[in-house]
Amino acid sequence: MTQSITSDRILILDFGSQYSQLIARRVRESGVYSEMHPFDMKDGDIKAFNPKGIILSGGPNSVYEEGSPRAPQIVFELGVPVLGICYGFQTMAAQLGGSVMAGTVKEFGHAQIDVIVDDKLLNGLKDNNAKIQVWMSHGDKVASLPDGFITTSSTPSCAFASASDESRQLYGVQFHPEVTHTAKGMEVIANFVHGICGCGNLWNPKNIIEMRVAQLKEQIGDERVLLGLSGGVDSSVVAALLHEAIGDKLTCVFVDNGLLRLGEGDQVMKMFADNMGIRVIRVDAESRFLKALTGATDPEDKRKIIGREFIEVFSEEARKLDGVKFLAQGTIYPDVIESAKTKNGKAHVIKSHHNVGGLPDDLHFELVEPLRDLFKDEVRKLGTTLGLPHEMIYRHPFPGPGLGVRILGEIKKEYADILRMADDIFMQELRASGWYDKTAQAFAVFCPIKSVGVVGDARRYAWVISLRAVETVDFMTARFAHLPYELVDKISTRIMNEIADVSRVVYDISSKPPATIEWE
Ligand code: XMP
Repeated sequence: MTQSITSDRILILDFGSQYSQLIARRVRESGVYSEMHPFDMKDGDIKAFNPKGIILSGGPNSVYEEGSPRAPQIVFELGVPVLGICYGFQTMAAQLGGSVMAGTVKEFGHAQIDVIVDDKLLNGLKDNNAKIQVWMSHGDKVASLPDGFITTSSTPSCAFASASDESRQLYGVQFHPEVTHTAKGMEVIANFVHGICGCGNLWNPKNIIEMRVAQLKEQIGDERVLLGLSGGVDSSVVAALLHEAIGDKLTCVFVDNGLLRLGEGDQVMKMFADNMGIRVIRVDAESRFLKALTGATDPEDKRKIIGREFIEVFSEEARKLDGVKFLAQGTIYPDVIESAKTKNGKAHVIKSHHNVGGLPDDLHFELVEPLRDLFKDEVRKLGTTLGLPHEMIYRHPFPGPGLGVRILGEIKKEYADILRMADDIFMQELRASGWYDKTAQAFAVFCPIKSVGVVGDARRYAWVISLRAVETVDFMTARFAHLPYELVDKISTRIMNEIADVSRVVYDISSKPPATIEWE
């Protein structure tokens, strides 16, 4: 197996900061492979990982509290460079003989550091003005440095904003170079991984594709692979990668459940089957889904029915295909990290999300997950390099249950048809005005209530459509998008003029929390 592009690798030990994943992403953006692991990773595993450098992340604890997490001592004994960020810096200082105390002034947000010494980490940051904008998020601070360390920058309230012991290749920063609010944060990360750890620039889309294709060929050999294609970013990139690796040994199943957006099924077929020559079986399952959903009004019941039907339809198609050994899935790295974290957790189920899973026992597939170690932005770059169109790669997320959770209460074909038209008008106008790319997710919702309107001299008693558009980065919290009034005016006028069954359009002004993004 080709491992060369990941042989220059950085290990990130996670102390629980909300920014830990960002560190891993930034390292990879610098062209270096990185993995994130829990802070208490076993010594043997750390050695076996064979890192060129180690980054200790931030975290919510206080070093001086009893039982607070510590970096495994081996981190400082391996002889590879170590960078501690925020809590990572504090624990490094405390473990090596320095001290940490609660700050009198807590620093959250923007601050300016004065660069005192241009060490290898801060190399090139200082231009005419030695002050550099950084992002701080800490209550505690390093009070005294371990022997051998020198101060490299400070702020008025934080004497040791960064410090280093270059003879031992140990570096610490109190600020967060991984967040975009830190000007030149990427330079700090690049200085560490390239200048200090000596890693090359190997981790880039072209090399990743080459490596992945070689790995897929080796794993799959002459066997056949089945992929559930949804038209979303992840499964589309998996399809393109597998096609590159194994050509016509790949068969995709695309389930048209009648809850897709306008023209979506045709677009997927055109893209993959017509343009790329991938074998795609399109299963027209609209009536089956609608029948199974008849009478179901509870959101969780609807989600479960849609999930169950999907697996049944998919399994039936899989049984028809003889000699398929592998099932491909679009699992990505954050899914892997999150599922490891929540394995023992008891998270409250707000909505049961479903993806392909829980296939029946008589289908014995081995899994192929070529995106398992990639972040979403890396998947997108791969997709672009593989030649998938920009609109497909950068489109808003569309949930597994589709329009099923955007038609409130019972689902009927008539409602789905109206919603498809309204949603399409909304999308057209968002794209035309440039707002599609400024919002993270936008869609129309069908409200099964009737309201009175007037068209010409006639009374219209018809349905209500709500428009939903949100701005968010992580989809855990979201703010309703502040679309211009002229734009919502145009959209609402078009929807009511062009769809006779709609008498009223409203705009959803709820943020998450307390609302969720989807209505059901
Ligand atoms: P909520 O509505 O929980 O949605 O704020 C957060 C994000 O998740 C998407 N979503 C789903 N995605 N299967 C999916 O693959 C699902 O069942 C599902 N439900 C919600 C939602 O569109 C938003 O992007």
